[in-house]
Amino acid sequence: MSLVLPAIFLCLIALAVLTIYMPVFFGAPWHPAPSSAIQYSLDLCEAKPGEILYDLGSGDGRVLVTAAGRYGLRCVGIEIDPLKAWISRFLVRRMGLEGQVDILRRSVFDFDYADADILFIYMSHQALDRLFPEILRQLKPTARIICYRFCPRRLEPTKVSDEKTIFFYRFNKGNRVNEYY
Ligand SMILES: C[S@@+](CC[C@H](N)C(=O)[O-])C[C@H]1O[C@@H](n2cnc3c(N)ncnc32)[C@H](O)[C@@H]1O
Repeated sequence: MSLVLPAIFLCLIALAVLTIYMPVFFGAPWHPAPSSAIQYSLDLCEAKPGEILYDLGSGDGRVLVTAAGRYGLRCVGIEIDPLKAWISRFLVRRMGLEGQVDILRRSVFDFDYADADILFIYMSHQALDRLFPEILRQLKPTARIICYRFCPRRLEPTKVSDEKTIFFYRFNKGNRVNEYY
């Protein structure tokens, strides 16, 4: 009996460690973007109601909920971790946004973003190296990308936040974009 509580406690710690650090092996650990950064990013993109936003590695769904709830975007979260996918679906339902937000339990590397208007990416440099430049070939000419904290190498941002944590990219496809085209 006396061992039950410590055992539960250890299981919870193990679950938390797995949820936060296990995804490192797939592309990035879990660290939620602050809401101020999310709002600043969506303002930079001049996000319009009805546009489609993808959050690559959507975590607990906070980017999706803000984008759908405050900006009227249609949102898709791609999340590899089943626990975070479940938590974020729960959050989306609680906010009454299930008609606007889909969360897919998939790998970000195995997806076609051709219908995206906005990509929000908060993933490691290694993950960005795997995504770029291929992902640029899928995007519409009007698509915008926000990278939080980590930015793709050799791709000049259109704008960088003062704290150098938010990297905004607006493309004019058909023209050469840095070294990628
Ligand atoms: C740094 S967190 C960002 C969470 C969220 N986008 C935010 O800004 O609050 C990175 C997320 O990507 C997820 N992830 C890591 N590798 C992934 C992969 N290959 N495919 C999909 N999701 C992945 C992790 O589980 C984690 O939730």
